[in-house]
Amino acid sequence: KTCSVFGVPMVYGQPNHGTDYGPQMLRKFGLRGELEELGWTVRDNGDIAIDPPHENDPKPDSLLSGKTKNCYNVGKVCQAVHELTFYAASEGNFALTLGGDHSIGAGTVAGILKARPNTGVIWVDAHADINTPELSTSGNMHGMPVAFLTRLVEPTLFPGWDWLESTPPLHPAQLVYIGLRDVDPAERKILKDLGITCFTMQHVDRYGIAGVMERTFDQLYGRPLHCSYDIDAVDPLHAPSTGTAVRGGLTFREAHYLVEAVSGTGQLGSLDMVEVNPGLGSESENKETVEMALALIDSAMGSRIL
Ligand code: ARG
Ligand code: MN
Ligand code: MN
Ligand code: MN
Repeated sequence: KTCSVFGVPMVYGQPNHGTDYGPQMLRKFGLRGELEELGWTVRDNGDIAIDPPHENDPKPDSLLSGKTKNCYNVGKVCQAVHELTFYAASEGNFALTLGGDHSIGAGTVAGILKARPNTGVIWVDAHADINTPELSTSGNMHGMPVAFLTRLVEPTLFPGWDWLESTPPLHPAQLVYIGLRDVDPAERKILKDLGITCFTMQHVDRYGIAGVMERTFDQLYGRPLHCSYDIDAVDPLHAPSTGTAVRGGLTFREAHYLVEAVSGTGQLGSLDMVEVNPGLGSESENKETVEMALALIDSAMGSRIL
């Protein structure tokens, strides 16, 4: 079994510096060794090049989407990312993508869907990341990847995003959210209108994380799985160094159980670990956050207590 690793040091989907250090910190804290210990052959492709936004980049139509910050730049990076996950998945490799902010989820998932259109996506996050450019109040593209994937927006209207048309859309039935607790009013309506299954933190309280995972697998039964794990799903007690931390998140064990269960299905073919921001918080908070992300990757890739 081979794991293709892609570093995507993306920052332009949100306003903070520091998410670009995510991939190198995960490597520094021992990613390769951990994966090899678990029996994986590791093919680390390094970090992809990310061009900074340029004043000459085409701008989105101002009436429709003028608030979509760094639209072209984020779109082009996602295009490159989707090619990487597509090839890895086509070769039969596990595709592990290290962010970077969560805007890159539009790329990772699009590439996986191109290789395996019936993939079930488990989006683990405090946020729904399903704002459309028109409805977003921040204009930050890390809050929009699911809107692009589900085609709430027409890709060709957004500079840098025309490539998305050549990939299969993500149908609402293929998507399950876990960990939500900070959903914008416009997003609430979208989630309801599309009938997307959401296991918020209230559902984790009610069913327990094991109950949530059972229900998740019931819905996604028979599909290959992709997990897009935003570290801010975890309670800030255990993962403080992230740009949009929200209290009341997954406990240390809930966060782990989730990926242990996903890995236990034998259906997981790809994983994103995003929004680790070693530029935020103290040195010990950085360390804690990176170690948490690494431990979650480990669990998703097969690590068990016994
Ligand atoms: N909903 C907010 C927004 O649209 C926050 C999104 C946070 N996303 C994330 N990937 N951390 O800006
Ligand atoms: Mn170990
Ligand atoms: Mn996110
Ligand atoms: Mn989030």
